[in-house]
Amino acid sequence: MKIIRCKDYEDMSKKAAALFFSQIHMKPDCVLGLATGSTPVGTYKQLIEWYEAGDLDFSKVKSVNLDEYVGLDGTNDQSYRYFMNENLFNHVNIDKANTNVPNGKAGNMDEEALRYEALIESLGGIDMQLLGIGNNGHIGFNEPSDAFDKITHEVKLTDSTIQANARFFESIDDVPKTAISMGIGTIMKAKKIVLIANGPKKADIIYETCFGPITPHVPASALQMHPDATIIVDEEAYATILAKRGE
Ligand code: GLP
Repeated sequence: MKIIRCKDYEDMSKKAAALFFSQIHMKPDCVLGLATGSTPVGTYKQLIEWYEAGDLDFSKVKSVNLDEYVGLDGTNDQSYRYFMNENLFNHVNIDKANTNVPNGKAGNMDEEALRYEALIESLGGIDMQLLGIGNNGHIGFNEPSDAFDKITHEVKLTDSTIQANARFFESIDDVPKTAISMGIGTIMKAKKIVLIANGPKKADIIYETCFGPITPHVPASALQMHPDATIIVDEEAYATILAKRGE
């Protein structure tokens, strides 16, 4: 696991975007694993800027997103499909037919989960996966639990995640209680993983992720076992690491 310490959010976003820039240049038809949340917005903005400058071509890129709320369809402005369209897909030359988000409106979530796993396999797997991190260490929507979830599955969101995500909804009652998410096993199969985090709220969980025990109670700690995981954090998210090292 490699940790890159950045000055601030902008610096973190630029460094993460640079890894995706290289990935797309090295393999123009790569499969990108993409994430939602407030953290990746700056990374997507930077990629859009490079696209607009003529330095990036998404025409052959394929994408698979980590997760989606159950019950929301792509026209709902709180759905992750809507987020991806607004924050990246509508602004670059990616073919929308090549972009994939789990279907939160599928009738049968178990079948949807299997379809999504098979889809990722059929694309040849994920070349580079972008991740944010929840305050409780969740990645995608893999919440802390007694065992690592292996494949895409329906999840019951924890109260802490519902509260954290309520800021995007009109009221906390509007936050869906379940979601469909790639499993830790799905994420771990990605050839490269880039996790980004910023701000003081993420400092303790970043320390746990990088230096704590590998446990499903901190789902992101599984990344310690990944052969090519890069954690990109700003000064504030790095603070607990510094404090624990007495620096
Ligand atoms: C949601 C998403 C995660 C994301 C997390 C953190 O729960 N499912 O993929 O990492 O939020 O969001 P933020 O980046 O806004 O802190």
